[in-house]
Amino acid sequence: MPHSTPLPPFAAIVVAAGKGLRAGQAAPKQFVPWHGKPVVRHSVEALLEAGAAPIVVAIAQDAEKQAHEALTGLDGYELVAGGETRQQSVANALEHLEAVAPQSVLIHDAARPALPRAVIARLLAALADHAGAIPVLPVVDSLAIAGDGVMTGSADRARLRRVQTPQAFRFGPILAAHRRWQGPRDAGDDAQVLRAAGGVVALVEGDEALKKLTVAEDFVSERPAIRTGMGFD
Ligand code: CTP
Ligand code: MG
Repeated sequence: MPHSTPLPPFAAIVVAAGKGLRAGQAAPKQFVPWHGKPVVRHSVEALLEAGAAPIVVAIAQDAEKQAHEALTGLDGYELVAGGETRQQSVANALEHLEAVAPQSVLIHDAARPALPRAVIARLLAALADHAGAIPVLPVVDSLAIAGDGVMTGSADRARLRRVQTPQAFRFGPILAAHRRWQGPRDAGDDAQVLRAAGGVVALVEGDEALKKLTVAEDFVSERPAIRTGMGFD
């Protein structure tokens, strides 16, 4: 694949320690084959191609063999034990990276296998001016607030965004923010953790291809095309 402009150096965390209960597959979804390769392998390969070093993959305690099999032949990744929640898995991987002290880190869900290099480039560019950056997409449907079977309100979709991963951070601020987090045990994502600690999170354009494999139907659908240039109106 032709490589365009070189990217600044960055480390990556891939969280792959979940159980994948909603997907209802025979194995946790990150190890299930998807378009010819285990789900987790797609994003680790994309990160390697983009130059991420090191890549820390958080996995469940009993999944070491499965993970090495899924990533067989690849160099440049390290496994760490994940935690009970996604947030704990991220925190463990950040603590592991402290010894390396990278300048920036991308935190990515293993369950989002199609990872466009262009999104990585946009995120890293935004880190020049912000402590964090996340890929987002517009909301196309109108929104209703649900209350007991009836609509109790609405929200202005123009002000809302769908948030994806990878999320990019300067390493020092995101490590400190995770250590200080006082919110619910499982934060929705790492951008919320950084914001709670006062960090500013830039929004960059995401990509529909980054859709998270969540339910069984997602495993039989077409590989999403990488599309860019979606508008926000
Ligand atoms: N994850 C993790 N550690 C956890 C829980 C989740 O590393 N304790 C990871 C998952 O492996 C996944 C990502 O976080 O790559 C997003 O989570 P989600 O889609 O909810 O995956 P699961 O928790 O595995 O699925 P489910 O909620 O359906 O059980
Ligand atoms: Mg989950």
